[in-house]
Amino acid sequence: SKFIAPNLTACHPSYGRPDLLVHCCPPGFESPVPFVDFQFPDPQSPKRVRRPVQLVDENYIAKYNKALSIMKSLPYDDPRSFARQANLHCLFCTGAYDQQNSNTPLSIHRTWLFFPWHRMMIYFHERIIGSLIGDDTFAFPVWTWDIPEGMVMPDIYANMNLSFFHKVRDFSHFPPRVADLNYFEETNLSPQEQLDTNLAFMYNQMVSGAKKTELFMGCTYKANEGYCNSPGTVESAPHNTLHTWVGSNLEPGREDMGKFYSAARDPIFYAHHSNIDRLWEVWREIHKHELDIKDPDWLNSFFFFYDENLKLVKIKVRDVLDISKLGYSYEEVDRPWLNKRP
Ligand code: C2O
Repeated sequence: SKFIAPNLTACHPSYGRPDLLVHCCPPGFESPVPFVDFQFPDPQSPKRVRRPVQLVDENYIAKYNKALSIMKSLPYDDPRSFARQANLHCLFCTGAYDQQNSNTPLSIHRTWLFFPWHRMMIYFHERIIGSLIGDDTFAFPVWTWDIPEGMVMPDIYANMNLSFFHKVRDFSHFPPRVADLNYFEETNLSPQEQLDTNLAFMYNQMVSGAKKTELFMGCTYKANEGYCNSPGTVESAPHNTLHTWVGSNLEPGREDMGKFYSAARDPIFYAHHSNIDRLWEVWREIHKHELDIKDPDWLNSFFFFYDENLKLVKIKVRDVLDISKLGYSYEEVDRPWLNKRP
């Protein structure tokens, strides 16, 4: 079998940009830490419903704001701290770990591990956030950039008085600027033109360009076969492009959102990835789950994350394919792009 898995004791500096070596290995990685196998949350526990960020109320914002400031104040030694959470992305996305059974670096982007790995990362993050304020119903807000109401940077992330604000961003892209889902340079489109272009683009990335498993999920990545490096439609854009669009025009790699090593330092990362995660479910639903990957090497690939109880958990791709078992769901969102064939 050729499943992918990290060797946690083989961590090393990695390149955050071609000209920048970064150090994101956790303290004490050299000595193995005992871990437990993933277990689904108790089916009796309350469901977490992830809602579009434009629909959440004051009360919710206050709670999340408080939890996030607690998380940001935890010491770096604590794997639940915001800095350590952010570095998970640096670790698994810049090749900081070698693989088990091979000395090649593990990197989850631009492969079929993109969707499941990020689902895991934000699953644990969401539960940690909730536990910091004793709320086991806490669920992420979703940056629904695929519907017209969501096509701007959400207000809570642009509000300097809240812990969601982040200053390493492109300020010319703050509200009311309409996001360019296929951003690579500034355009002169009117807000309405940008919005229509975005909807047609979504149709392409979710429907016409994503009719085969690999086209949407990304390439087959197996141990000892080398890095495959071919992302799915939505990973390329809007995923990558919005990372770039949010990141700062004053930084060489449009940090923080614009580069893997720094992206998860911006709280908007989690709302962005909630939408990516939701769109994975939408795509599966459009295809009635007929295009779901069945390859055991994908299903058995595994990673490690700390949970809200500070336990190190080993979790496999096969564990994250049914979100209802993971105890969360998405509030229903319109799909205005579904009939926007260009
Ligand atoms: Cu691992 Cu949005 O990137």
